[in-house]
Amino acid sequence: MKALVIYDTNYGNTKKIAKIVAGKLWKDTKLISIADLKKKDLKGVEVLIVGCPVIGWNPTDKISQFLTGLKDNELQGVKAASFDTRMKLFFFTDAAKKISKELSRAGTTIIARSQDFYVQKVEGPLRAGEKERAIVWAADIKNSAKGK
Ligand SMILES: Cc1cc2nc3c(=O)[nH]c(=O)nc-3n(C[C@H](O)[C@H](O)[C@H](O)COP(=O)(O)O)c2cc1C
Repeated sequence: MKALVIYDTNYGNTKKIAKIVAGKLWKDTKLISIADLKKKDLKGVEVLIVGCPVIGWNPTDKISQFLTGLKDNELQGVKAASFDTRMKLFFFTDAAKKISKELSRAGTTIIARSQDFYVQKVEGPLRAGEKERAIVWAADIKNSAKGK
């Protein structure tokens, strides 16, 4: 499967999760920072994973710009999933669901529940157990990609 993991990060925590997920998918899965993403990187991609930190209830600006730049149904036939990293706050925030919503609008089929991974403080590190959860999530994606 030709898979691509796109991530954004301020302090490196989201990159860590993205790297684990990419490493657990298929052998030639690509990992690309949104800062380096070129339109041609999306060509022929069968499975697309997008992740970024929650910034003020939302995906990062770069990820939002990328998503809103996708035309309706432009990614028809692509299987997709999204994740975010965030803090445990006394109010609920989310970016991953918003990413999946936009990926759906762009025509992808969402094949796994959007996933949240937690950091201890703004700059991290990731909370205990989050790397292991990333491995499990990647396995889910791999399984559903086969089935759909
Ligand atoms: C300006 C700013 C706004 C943030 N807003 C939120 C928020 O609304 N909800 C949340 O859970 N975390 C929020 N955070 C914490 C980030 O989600 C956290 O820094 C991120 O998960 C770390 O990942 P990174 O190392 O990949 O940047 C915010 C962080 C910054 C710097």
